[in-house]
Amino acid sequence: MKILAIETSCDETAISLLEANSGFENPKFKVLSNALNSQIELHKEYGGVYPSLAKREHTKNLTPLLLKVMEEVFGNTKLETLNDRREPENHSNVLKKIRMVLEREPELFEQFARIVLDIKKPDIDYIAVTEGPGLEPALWVGINFAKALSLLWNIPLIPINHMEGHILSPLLNKENKITFPSLALLISGGHTELVLMKDWYQYEVVGETQDDAVGEAFDKTARMLGLPYPGGPEISKLAKETRNGNYEHKHSLPKPMLKDNTCHFSFSGLKTAVLYRLKELNITDEIRKEFARELEDTIVEILIKKTEKALDEHGAKSLIIGGGVIANAEIRKAFLNLGTERNLPILIPEKEVSTDNAIMIGIAGYFRALKNPSGFDIEKIGANGNLSL
Ligand code: KG4
Ligand code: ZN
Repeated sequence: MKILAIETSCDETAISLLEANSGFENPKFKVLSNALNSQIELHKEYGGVYPSLAKREHTKNLTPLLLKVMEEVFGNTKLETLNDRREPENHSNVLKKIRMVLEREPELFEQFARIVLDIKKPDIDYIAVTEGPGLEPALWVGINFAKALSLLWNIPLIPINHMEGHILSPLLNKENKITFPSLALLISGGHTELVLMKDWYQYEVVGETQDDAVGEAFDKTARMLGLPYPGGPEISKLAKETRNGNYEHKHSLPKPMLKDNTCHFSFSGLKTAVLYRLKELNITDEIRKEFARELEDTIVEILIKKTEKALDEHGAKSLIIGGGVIANAEIRKAFLNLGTERNLPILIPEKEVSTDNAIMIGIAGYFRALKNPSGFDIEKIGANGNLSL
């Protein structure tokens, strides 16, 4: 089965084409093409993601990325006869519907009409698109683009929860197998959640942050230290420099909610503590490194302790970790050690599918297609910025 996947929930525009087969027991994925345009450089100036800029960039990038994927997989994409594209009798009807779907995206419609209408109908079984959570204006661009493609080529459309994408992202590596019940730890710029997965499609949130997400703790602390957005990679780079020799802890940070009786998290106290400490200090490169190290260590400890608690409470037989923050080498190492200590399978995505991407949307699309082979009514598909699992 071939799946075209589209992701525009935040600051990456991404389109992938996957070949997927073998069902639930031994799912196998082959990435036929993966095109991604990161807007990080543009958003840096604002110290975070600027929604209307994100929408504008997605609008600009979707058509060129699609063309790149199509050419890479199918070679010459040029339409030779109208029959290559759709049934001729429906031609004007389809165009009318596409015009309606892209009514609020004039620039996208212009590109679509100029370029996409001339692409030969590809051999694709499904189109999967992120419906949420994320920035709604950004989500809508991807959704409307996907709807227009679905109409043009008469290919079923499948809406995907971005967080389900993160949960299933480790399955790109066929060695990773989910044994149920499984516990998923989701750690990204917008989420920090422990999710119990009793079976395919069955999710129960058993712990979540009461304030900031863990990615925010990295990003906000980095900002206070004068480091660029996104702060996670910057912090981990600096912290690494302290790991060569002997490091003595110098600025103990609080560990909010660590010892309470729940699986919930709290991270906002961390940035406040850093803020107050920094007021008394002159921020030098040495201080930046020290705080990066303290923050990373504190976060590792909190994530491990809370995850262990949830593992014990729910008798999980495997642990999945998803979301951009698992790109952090120390966090990866700590969870792999936990797996060895507990003899527990740990499913961690490869680095390329840790931060936002369309491959994971295609993987989730495969399992949703198995559940709902005829796809979904496109009229009912829309962006939901706060979509939960
Ligand atoms: O999943 P993701 O790409 O986007 C969201 O859905 O939010 O996650 C982005 C988050 C950012 O907060 C970023 O700072 C963090 O992941 N991140 C990291 C690292 N790489 C990305 N945090 C810590 N260490 C890293 N190496
Ligand atoms: Zn994400």
